[in-house]
Amino acid sequence: MKKKALILGIESSCDETAASILEESNESVPNLLSNIVSSQEEIHKKFGGVVPELAARSHIDKIDLIVDKALKKSGKKLSDIDAIAVTGGPGLIVCLSVGLNFAKTLAMTLKKPLIVVNHLEGHALSPKLVTDLKFPYLLLLISGGHSQYLAVKNLGKYKRLGTTIDDALGEAFDKTAKLLGIKFPGGPFIEKLAAKGNKNKYDLPKPIINKGGCNLSFAGLKTAILKISKTIKNDQDRYDLAASFQKTIEEILVKKTKIAFDQFKKISNKKKNFFVIAGGVAANSNIRKNLEKLSFNENFIPIFPPHNLCGDNAAMIAMVGLEKFKLKKFSKLNHPALPRWQLDEKATFLKGAGVKL
Ligand code: KG4
Ligand code: ZN
Repeated sequence: MKKKALILGIESSCDETAASILEESNESVPNLLSNIVSSQEEIHKKFGGVVPELAARSHIDKIDLIVDKALKKSGKKLSDIDAIAVTGGPGLIVCLSVGLNFAKTLAMTLKKPLIVVNHLEGHALSPKLVTDLKFPYLLLLISGGHSQYLAVKNLGKYKRLGTTIDDALGEAFDKTAKLLGIKFPGGPFIEKLAAKGNKNKYDLPKPIINKGGCNLSFAGLKTAILKISKTIKNDQDRYDLAASFQKTIEEILVKKTKIAFDQFKKISNKKKNFFVIAGGVAANSNIRKNLEKLSFNENFIPIFPPHNLCGDNAAMIAMVGLEKFKLKKFSKLNHPALPRWQLDEKATFLKGAGVKL
């Protein structure tokens, strides 16, 4: 019997040091043997955001322990591994370099192939760890660093339909949280506060809601919240602002997703399409509910990766690694870290003042 491929996945692009062991399977989804994530939340909390130098140091301290833990949990030995998949970008260059150098050294020592993976492709394929998902599908990636609508046509084949022209959605959640006096990362806490508030109390702007296709913008919203936050008198005001912010985000996403659906229908020739919502913000229950409802109305099947696979993890990197391994898509040992690696390499850079929509 042919040996089932065993992939070690490594992730260190931002503030999570992660390792995972994934085994090929005859079933519809591979066998996730371990998925260890060590978060640096405590380190960065007091700074209100990720400090690259501190993040890199922590990756250096922990990476071998985390890989060791993932191996132990999986019950496999290092010598059983068939390939090492590692995030090569996008992300913080000092952080990416830690994982990449570790993976290169392992690949060289074990004489096993190195597979450099795009972190966003990891998020894009993360539902494949639990669902037999076929290409093509529409992806909404909403994380701390990215907010994009992508048509996922095949492994390595992406068309970006829309992106944020300023802040990422997770960043908008975190900045709003900071203004409400909540420590980083504030997204999950905003959700908790919002549950106690009146979502109709504050009327907040929805930047570029009627233009720019399914591109997104959140910077104007942040400015409005900054102003209102100065007028806040008590806890109830804070809850109301959190609820109003979350409601505004839901409305923006529903409107823009509808546009993305229409664009995707022109690309796919299927009657019913899959819509994957991935990245840390996809953990938000109200966002989930709204996008689920819209999907059913528009004949799309919504797929959310489970909560533990929404945020950064190495299982998703191993997942891409396994797909590439089957196609023998290996990387050279001198593969550089690519801090701005885009999934759709033809997509133009859309950020900052002066962007034309
Ligand atoms: O994908 P992720 O873990 O890391 C990045 O690649 O950025 O996403 C982290 C982001 C943070 O901004 C965090 O505040 C946000 O996801 N987030 C949430 C929720 N849980 C995490 N935002 C809103 N509601 C949540 N429940
Ligand atoms: Zn991510």
